[in-house]
Amino acid sequence: MKALEIDNLSVTFHGKGKGFAAVGDVSFVVEEGQTFGLIGPSGCGKTTVLRAIAGLNTQWDGSIQVFGEALQPGRKIAGALRSNIQMVFQDPYSSLHPRHRIRHILGEPLTIRRHPDVETEVLTALDQVGLPASVAGRYPHQLSGGQRQRVAIARALLLKPKLLLLDEPTSALDVSVQAEILNLLNDLKQSHGMTFVLVSHDPGVVAHMCDNAVTMQAGHVDRVLDRAALAAGGWESH
Ligand SMILES: Nc1ncnc2c1ncn2[C@@H]1O[C@H](COP(=O)(O)OP(=O)(O)OP(=O)(O)O)[C@@H](O)[C@H]1O
Ligand SMILES: [Mg+2]
Repeated sequence: MKALEIDNLSVTFHGKGKGFAAVGDVSFVVEEGQTFGLIGPSGCGKTTVLRAIAGLNTQWDGSIQVFGEALQPGRKIAGALRSNIQMVFQDPYSSLHPRHRIRHILGEPLTIRRHPDVETEVLTALDQVGLPASVAGRYPHQLSGGQRQRVAIARALLLKPKLLLLDEPTSALDVSVQAEILNLLNDLKQSHGMTFVLVSHDPGVVAHMCDNAVTMQAGHVDRVLDRAALAAGGWESH
C-alpha cells in the first residue's frame, strides 16, 4: 500500500509583494514501511513539503494522499489521520515548550483526547526512547540535546502514528549521539510498523536510513534515487 502519494505539490508564500513559490510541482510516492529521504540544500523547500503533509500549512496546491486518503487544501486534517501523521521538528529546543515539564509536554495531546491513563502512557513513551522516568519531572533546558531529541521523538510516538515526518532529526547532535538516535528510530519503526519521511542534508545519514529518496533544488525535485543509487553515492555533489 502507498503510505504517501504527492502529485504536483506547490506552495506559494504571499508577502507584501508578489508571491514566492517555495515549492513547485513536487511529486513522489512512499510505500508503506519505507524510509523515504528528502535531500537538498538549505532553503530548497524540504521543511515546507513536510509542513504541508503534516497539515501545519494548509495553503498548497496539488494533491497529497496519506494511506489513500486525500488531504484537502485550506482545511485542517481531521479524524484518525491527524494522529496518524506526526512530525519531529528540525530544532527540538524550540519545539518543546520551555516552561512546561516533560510530563506536561508529552501528556498534553493525550489529555486533549481524554486518554484515561496519561501518566502511564508518558512513562511508557519515555522508556521506549531510552529515558528514565525521572525525566518526566524536568524542564527542557535541564536535558542534554540528545535527551531533548528523544523527548521530541517520544512526543511524536505517543499518538501511535503510521507516518512519521522527521525534519533533520539529528543535525543538532554530535556524531556518536546521532548514531544512537538513528538506531533508535530504526528500532521504533520496526516495532511500531511505521513509515518515515526523513529530511537530511547528510549523505551518510540518508545512505544509512533510506530505501528511496529525492533530491530537491530551489523548490523542485531534481533527482530520484533508488536504493542502489543511494548506496553508490555521488548524488550529493549534483
Ligand atoms: N512562512 C514563510 N513565509 C515566507 N517564506 C517562507 C516561509 N517558510 C519558508 N519560506 C521560504 O521558503 C523557502 C524554503 O524554506 P524551507 O524552510 O522549506 O527550506 P529547507 O529546505 O527546509 O531549508 P533548511 O535546510 O535550511 O531547513 C525558503 O526560501 C524560505 O525562506
Ligand atoms: Mg528545513
